[in-house]
Amino acid sequence: MNETIKIIKERRSIRAYKDKPIEEEKIQEIVECGLMAPNAKHLQPWKFIVVTNKDLIKEIAKRVQDKVIDNPRYSFVKERAKTKDDVIFYNAPLAIFILGEKDSRWAKLDCSYAAENMMLAAKSLGLGSCPIGMARYLTEEKDLVQKLDFDENYELIITLVFGYPDEKPEPKERNKDVVEWVE
Ligand SMILES: Cc1cc2nc3c(=O)[nH]c(=O)nc-3n(C[C@H](O)[C@H](O)[C@H](O)COP(=O)(O)O)c2cc1C
Repeated sequence: MNETIKIIKERRSIRAYKDKPIEEEKIQEIVECGLMAPNAKHLQPWKFIVVTNKDLIKEIAKRVQDKVIDNPRYSFVKERAKTKDDVIFYNAPLAIFILGEKDSRWAKLDCSYAAENMMLAAKSLGLGSCPIGMARYLTEEKDLVQKLDFDENYELIITLVFGYPDEKPEPKERNKDVVEWVE
């Protein structure tokens, strides 16, 4: 197995991070790998909001957690909150908010490619990551949207968190029945 394939196969969503900041060069590398993603017509219809401010990351996590904690759809949040303090961003030292241009036909797909590039780059640098769909609830909070400087012509597609992993989960099984070879 070559190194790239190993990284793809061994990437896991990490939900426990060490209390250790990420070196700036590594953050730059992750962002550059996001920028190198394929994108329709090379329109690059994205913005990456990079946040390393621990207090701001904590505040967003707390506000999102408060919003979803009593929602039965997210009962696992309540469960996890019994033993962990941040069950939204898992105390990660870095969050990247990926925004896609609202009027761009393929923005969601383009942003998804960028997200995966970033997560694989992170893994190759010894870092863990996790996509946080639940962070979309922050967009209901005007002051947070303002603090994060989201452009009104863009929407939040996905939030990613990164950090030095404090757990090493095994790769999850995948359902292989979904693959069909047609001759
Ligand atoms: C669009 C998207 C949203 C996700 N949102 C969350 C989330 O809010 N919280 C979380 O802990 N994991 C989240 N995940 C991670 C998934 O649970 C995870 O990718 C899946 O269980 C497969 O596990 P793996 O990434 O470790 O292979 C999200 C993943 C994706 C692709």
